[in-house]
Amino acid sequence: MKHTDIKILFDDSDKYLNASVTVCGWVRTWRDSKSIAFIELNDGTTLKNLQLVIEKENLDESLIKPALVVGCALRVVGKFIPSERNGVELSVENITVLGGCPQDYPLQKKHHTLEFLRTIPHLRPRTKYFEAVFGVRNQLSFAIHKYFNSHGYKYVHTPIITGSDCEGAGEMFRVTTQSWDAKYAKEQDYYADDFFGAKAGLTVSGQLEGEAAAMGLGKIYTFGPTFRAEHSNTTRHAAEFWHIEPEVCFCDLHDIIEIAEDFIKSIIKDVLENCPEELAYFNERNEKGLIEKLQNVVSHDFGIITYTEAVNVLKKSGKQFKYPVEWGCDLQTEHEKYLTEEYFKKPVFVTDYPAVIKSFYMKQNPDGKTVAATDLLVPGIGEIIGCSEREADLEKLKAAMLQRNMTLDAYSDYIDSRKYGSVPHSGFGLGFERMLMYITGVQNIRDTLLYPRTVGSL
Ligand code: 4AD
Ligand code: MG
Repeated sequence: MKHTDIKILFDDSDKYLNASVTVCGWVRTWRDSKSIAFIELNDGTTLKNLQLVIEKENLDESLIKPALVVGCALRVVGKFIPSERNGVELSVENITVLGGCPQDYPLQKKHHTLEFLRTIPHLRPRTKYFEAVFGVRNQLSFAIHKYFNSHGYKYVHTPIITGSDCEGAGEMFRVTTQSWDAKYAKEQDYYADDFFGAKAGLTVSGQLEGEAAAMGLGKIYTFGPTFRAEHSNTTRHAAEFWHIEPEVCFCDLHDIIEIAEDFIKSIIKDVLENCPEELAYFNERNEKGLIEKLQNVVSHDFGIITYTEAVNVLKKSGKQFKYPVEWGCDLQTEHEKYLTEEYFKKPVFVTDYPAVIKSFYMKQNPDGKTVAATDLLVPGIGEIIGCSEREADLEKLKAAMLQRNMTLDAYSDYIDSRKYGSVPHSGFGLGFERMLMYITGVQNIRDTLLYPRTVGSL
């Protein structure tokens, strides 16, 4: 169907001025009076609506009436003209209704609550809010690929179905084609009979496979869906989220922190440059000062503090935390919030966590208690990146696995990477939706995903 994107008309208006054009889109709102009617048409290519002006004497009533309906889809031919109020508008010559829209269309009002829109995920992309969310989501993905591509990283596609639990937290969804049968005496026999002949699940992280790729390709990144069967019903957890995981050889914790900071700043800059309309909208709608916040982030150094120092800061804060702070505890949201929102007031890397609260693959520090790991915390959200130098020493790695009661046989490939030409290497995982929340000021992860999957909600 030959037509012109509304974005192109706005961006290149001089070229189209006074020409006859065809546009397609959905009616967002309309107004009617005796001699003239107006329609705000949106086609998804820009947040801006194109105003259609219908002089009633020029067009048959039978063509106009069916088009003055919120939600209906139109194809319109008209003259693209300058307008005092709107800059430009379309003086309508002909209208075809492509798809009518009955009165029970749920998006009748201009503003609906986000809670209500969550009940109609299939329709919410037709609202300005979600047009803006998915616009930024698109630009942010592109920015991420651009960053790694221009820095010599290879994009690898790690498997989604896997046998190994990378984070060791037992939060994997099972993948199976057979139901349990009492004929199996042992769990092992049951899995042996299953599709893969082994227990399989959906990946929680592409890291372990990513490390194998990096061991030959030097530096890689993954960008794909990961799955966590966590029963965390929060505004920051989804059961299916998109994960960016670079893995870099010949790189220690200090180096990977530099890379992570450069990467985060670069992708924010990209969105600032390429999504001005969306960010201006979110600056009004979600978070006053959002744009200024982002500009500050890209122009200042991130904070950095060791876990041990952070624990001291929290203890001296004089705050009454729900979860008391002691060396060795996992930092809770309230602690992360204090550190990044009140103490640093900017993104901060917390480094060198106690080994016992972190994963088996992290490089053990000489103190015997901590690991060369870091989380990047940001105001308003908390952790957006989990990062570490990996344990490159075969014996130390095996010891850490045994300490966690892991079956070494199940990880023999991973162990091989330390046996054959092991190198210092590091990587991190960025939660894509959490990054998107930070950039847009969206408060709930459910409003960053097309069809969010969370506990009890499919
Ligand atoms: O800290 P995590 O668990 O680290 C890893 O998975 C490592 N294997 C990463 C690596 O070193 N390659 O997860 C990384 C990030 C978190 O910081 C968070 O942003 C995001 O993934 N994340 C989630 N996002 C949304 N919903 C969830 N349930 C998430 N769980 C983790
Ligand atoms: Mg983490």
